[in-house]
Amino acid sequence: MIDNWRDALVDVAYLVTAVCFILGLRFLGNPTTARKGNQLAALGMAIAVVATLFSSDLEEGGSINWTNIGLILAAIVVGGAISSLMAKRVQMTAMPQMVAIFNGMGGATAALVSVAEFMHKEGIGRGEVTSIVLGAIIGSISLTGSIIAFLKLQEMISGRPITFPSQKMFNAGLGGLIAVLGVLIIWLQDGSTAKLLMWILFIAALALGASIVLPIGGADMPVVIAILNSLTGIAAALTGLVLSNMGMVIAGALVGASGGYLTLLMAKAMNRSVPSIIFGAFGGGPEGAAAGGGSTEERPYRSTSPDDVAISLAYAQNVIVVPGYGLAVAQAQHAVRELADLLEEKGVNVKYAIHPVAGRMPGHMNVLLAEANVPYDQLFDMDDINDEFSNTDVVLVIGANDVTNPAAKTDPTSPIYGMPILNVSDAKQIYVLKRSMKSGFAGIDNDLFYDPKTSMVFGDAKGVVTEMVGAVKQV
Ligand code: TAP
Repeated sequence: MIDNWRDALVDVAYLVTAVCFILGLRFLGNPTTARKGNQLAALGMAIAVVATLFSSDLEEGGSINWTNIGLILAAIVVGGAISSLMAKRVQMTAMPQMVAIFNGMGGATAALVSVAEFMHKEGIGRGEVTSIVLGAIIGSISLTGSIIAFLKLQEMISGRPITFPSQKMFNAGLGGLIAVLGVLIIWLQDGSTAKLLMWILFIAALALGASIVLPIGGADMPVVIAILNSLTGIAAALTGLVLSNMGMVIAGALVGASGGYLTLLMAKAMNRSVPSIIFGAFGGGPEGAAAGGGSTEERPYRSTSPDDVAISLAYAQNVIVVPGYGLAVAQAQHAVRELADLLEEKGVNVKYAIHPVAGRMPGHMNVLLAEANVPYDQLFDMDDINDEFSNTDVVLVIGANDVTNPAAKTDPTSPIYGMPILNVSDAKQIYVLKRSMKSGFAGIDNDLFYDPKTSMVFGDAKGVVTEMVGAVKQV
């Protein structure tokens, strides 16, 4: 309900915020407009914060409560300082854990606000109690789940699935207890028993968040983070209902929906189902845990030197670069850009083929290559470039593995069977740059490495590409 003209203006400001968020999300869909999208979303958030300061909710007994305003401003200053420092210092490869931490803070906020509202409000309606209970459960699960995801990705605890006897039974029991407590609280609505039950529910949901994420392999964490992100959005929207804050409801709903959509896109591109990620043990750690697929016996393969690759590249007409996780590990993006520039100067047509799940987070390759100022018109999504491999003279695979594995198309027993891959094996000549014959994330051998058209170039991506740059200059 709009109490006065001031709150009407505040609601209009929240509407403007919602428009900024929606347009921001739209702009984020393309690398050329992504920066603008981010700025627009930040502007929307600034409008929402300023509008909140003018809301009559901050008044007590008809006059402004300066303590509340002081607390809000202090939180903005402290939170803003810590997060901008973290954002400046974070390595690109550590971005997933950064998102996990931010996400956990969102979950914590939703859970704490829900519990605090329940503890201090009197005579709350049943609908509001339902929002509070759901906000507390989902926010708490998201908080501890995100903390475990962060610890795994940061390798502060093992990235492998951490299990204990009867874990699934324990989780089911905890889930059942939370559901019963939630129903009881909604039924009681108020009073000291309901408040005690709320504390137990809060602690049980915190425990459940941790014990759901512990058995999931570290390499599956990016998908888990997308799921938790979506949960945090839903929790924030529910908290927005409790606080009658429309800005929060809209922002939470957008985060919930986009996180859910991202989860489905990632799961599809990895050819996994969301339940198999939550309940399976695939992707145990950086070396991958899946067995099967490909062949384990020693097979002959060719290898060559960076100098030979440089000659082959310099005399090619069309070259496609396929970047993968190893490019990010080696931080070879600037060297790759230099190599591509030199080749272009020699009249070679260079394109980059981007697989949707290359690397370890959505858009990982786009972000890396954008950092090195690779022109956007040289970046091609898998579906747009896959037909071009057959007309390509040379493909240079840099630190990519699973996203090029033909077993995804040819071997029904392979764990990645059905995953869409880049058609690298269709090209005339293929060079694969990596440090060894070791497998990638999925833990399986790659038939592409044994293709008669393929030559391996062993070494750290940055060092090898830098050598190629030197050699191309000599051609
Ligand atoms: P991977 O299959 O993981 O292969 C990366 C390769 O890079 C490794 O085989 C490794 O071989 C090589 N490498 C590592 N460090 C290197 C360095 N310093 N220099 C040169 N090479 C190096 O990567 P991909 O092809 O990008 O595929 C991504 C995989 O991750 C997929 O299976 C995908 O499903 C999964 N995944 C993706 C995401 C997202 S959202 N992108 C999230 C979770 C999981 P050596 O050890 O021999 O060097």
